[in-house]
Amino acid sequence: MTKQIATNITWHEGTVTRQERQENLTQQGATIWLTGLSGSGKSTIAVALEQVLLKQGKHAYVLDGDNVRHGLNKNLGFSAEDRAENIRRIGEVSKLFADAGLISVTSFISPYRADRDLVRALHDEANLPFLEVYVETPLDVAEQRDPKGLYKKARAGEIKGFTGIDDPYEEPLNAELVLHTADQSVEESVGALLELIEDRGLLSS
Ligand code: ADX
Repeated sequence: MTKQIATNITWHEGTVTRQERQENLTQQGATIWLTGLSGSGKSTIAVALEQVLLKQGKHAYVLDGDNVRHGLNKNLGFSAEDRAENIRRIGEVSKLFADAGLISVTSFISPYRADRDLVRALHDEANLPFLEVYVETPLDVAEQRDPKGLYKKARAGEIKGFTGIDDPYEEPLNAELVLHTADQSVEESVGALLELIEDRGLLSS
């Protein structure tokens, strides 16, 4: 648990209610948390889902690992501690987006169960939906795709601590949805996600 350092701070309650936000946006805020190996298809699926939701007049936003590491999390590397902090910060950001009424779609390897569970707990405490989606791809398939050439580098010893090669990935035990991208198209994965989102009643206020 991250230590609270600042003292003498007081929570200032707003006057706009969650219900009012939902009615304005005709949807409910939530976090759709995609987790899986590098090259599993998380980001491809996330941006395709965002596109479909926007076409339906809904409000979604993708938070992507590589992108967030260019800005907010540029001071973090890939040690277990840094990955934990990466996920904690994004968990908090995504919770804020969900509270603002957005469908926040996150695309992070998030290899540690404890880190993902912490984000789930943050959402539970705030009474905001958190849907964990395991983008499951066998390592050999992800490695075969190797869209950024990083597996090749990791095998050659040029990257240390690469997830799946010499760093762990802990599979989700209770994901709300599992996508098998080795045999499912992007459209099929997006379809399954839309069904989940609709089933949870997130697309009406
Ligand atoms: S996480 O483990 O902290 O969740 P995150 O999703 O932000 O990772 O970033 C993963 C991306 O960083 C990968 O898709 C890849 O492009 C790049 N990357 C660079 N080094 C590593 C590494 N050692 N392990 C995994 N991904 C890495």
